[in-house]
Amino acid sequence: MSAKDKLVIFDTTLRDGEQSPGASMTRDEKIRIAKMLEKMRVDVIEAGFAIASQGDFESVRAVAEVIKDSTVCSLARAVKGDIERAAEAIKPANSGRIHTFIATSPIHMKYKLQMEPPKVLEQAVSAIKLARQFTDDVEFSLEDASRSEFDFMCRIIESVINAGARTINLPDTVGYGEPSEYGLLFRRLIENIPNSDKAIFSTHCHNDLGLAVSNSLSAVMHGARQVECTINGLGERAGNAALEEIVMAIKTRKDLMPVETQIDISHIVPTSRLVSSITGFPVQPNKAIVGANAFAHESGIHQDGILKHRETYEIMRAEDVGWHTNKLVLGKHSGRAAVKARFESLGITFENADALNAAFTKFKDLADKKHEIFDEDLQALVSDAQPHALVESYHLGDMEIVCKTGQNPRAKLVLNVNGADVSAEATGSGPVDATFKAIESVVNSGAHLQLYSVNAITEGTDSLGDVTVRLEHSGHIVNGVGADTDIITASAKAYLHALNILSSKIEKHHPQHDGI
Ligand code: KIV
Ligand code: ZN
Repeated sequence: MSAKDKLVIFDTTLRDGEQSPGASMTRDEKIRIAKMLEKMRVDVIEAGFAIASQGDFESVRAVAEVIKDSTVCSLARAVKGDIERAAEAIKPANSGRIHTFIATSPIHMKYKLQMEPPKVLEQAVSAIKLARQFTDDVEFSLEDASRSEFDFMCRIIESVINAGARTINLPDTVGYGEPSEYGLLFRRLIENIPNSDKAIFSTHCHNDLGLAVSNSLSAVMHGARQVECTINGLGERAGNAALEEIVMAIKTRKDLMPVETQIDISHIVPTSRLVSSITGFPVQPNKAIVGANAFAHESGIHQDGILKHRETYEIMRAEDVGWHTNKLVLGKHSGRAAVKARFESLGITFENADALNAAFTKFKDLADKKHEIFDEDLQALVSDAQPHALVESYHLGDMEIVCKTGQNPRAKLVLNVNGADVSAEATGSGPVDATFKAIESVVNSGAHLQLYSVNAITEGTDSLGDVTVRLEHSGHIVNGVGADTDIITASAKAYLHALNILSSKIEKHHPQHDGI
């Protein structure tokens, strides 16, 4: 038996992470990420904010239907309609949680809620009582806790625990906290509230001052037993505390930490890649744990030290978090069953034989061009897998790009539009610009390009280029993705994928655009 307490890992990539402008995800994308989180053994998956929109409701419900081993949670304001909607969304879950919140800081109560503290307390207690009618697993958040008054927090926390809240979350909503002060807040509250032993205290930190992970760890040192975090630190503004950093800090500094998690760390890098490719938010190369350079030792002194004794410069092993272990020992002669099994080990399943055949054909094409195939390559191959509702109006047929020194690049394309071949031609400031202009000369979508990003998926010049194109049209934001060893082709595929999503009206709602 371990003498350490369990630390609950609560992932909110699909809710707070999605609140990053441009990071909206479709239902199918959320399901794919949720399955990876489940595989990683995340304790609680916050799947969305059910009241925010019909799309959000359906996403939470769909995640609740497929996830068996993690608790599935929906956010709800401390109001009846929100809680009932959250309850309905999590109904199919094996284990479901309602997470309800209300602001408790003077500034939020006065200007945002325009409510007096006693009314806030009363509303919080009613919300918990109502939520408990649907599930025993109810979490309460004191929004803007780090700027709230201590005595008021003591009163409201004691009351909501008496009303049935089993987790008390103290968000540093605006990223204002400082580690020693925020940590002490936990200790003081736990020591001062008479029934604090009836609930788990939770931390939820934003990264406005770059302190989200430090603040979360300090809270853990002072009694928090749940951490709310996101993959890659995705989240509003500067983001949330990064799951991978929290988990690895706790594991690597187990000499200091009074807790342990049940996370299977070997899934960290593949999950990071998946979230990055779905949201179109690239991971910076020097990002801890999951950045491309996180384990790359460039200096001769470091390399020499590592060769002599690995631990001289390495505090973690890259392969333990999912780097490099993922070389597929299959090549172009490999069979369908082996490739299918590898896809399945990555959480990628196929609905029917046609879908598997399509993925297998892509695998063979890639194996012809690329010597070694990695798990990341397989993920990229299906990153533009078409959800049911996607009508593929636009396909890439032929493509010819001419780049000559001193001349603007020219793109000549043949697009297949609703079954008919159409030629398109344009020049641009670069080959990608020319390609997009050629596509638009046919489609005239009226969409605005919000983001264009290219990532090499693996090392080497034969690597797949993974391109994300974010388009906005009348408030709808979509991310198209495309992968190819030729990045101009990948760019064209990503642009057409985004146009297909737009024209199929597959909605990616942003909760804030729905007035929440
Ligand atoms: O940052 C925050 O305060 C939140 C709460 C809704 C938990 O995300
Ligand atoms: Zn938050």
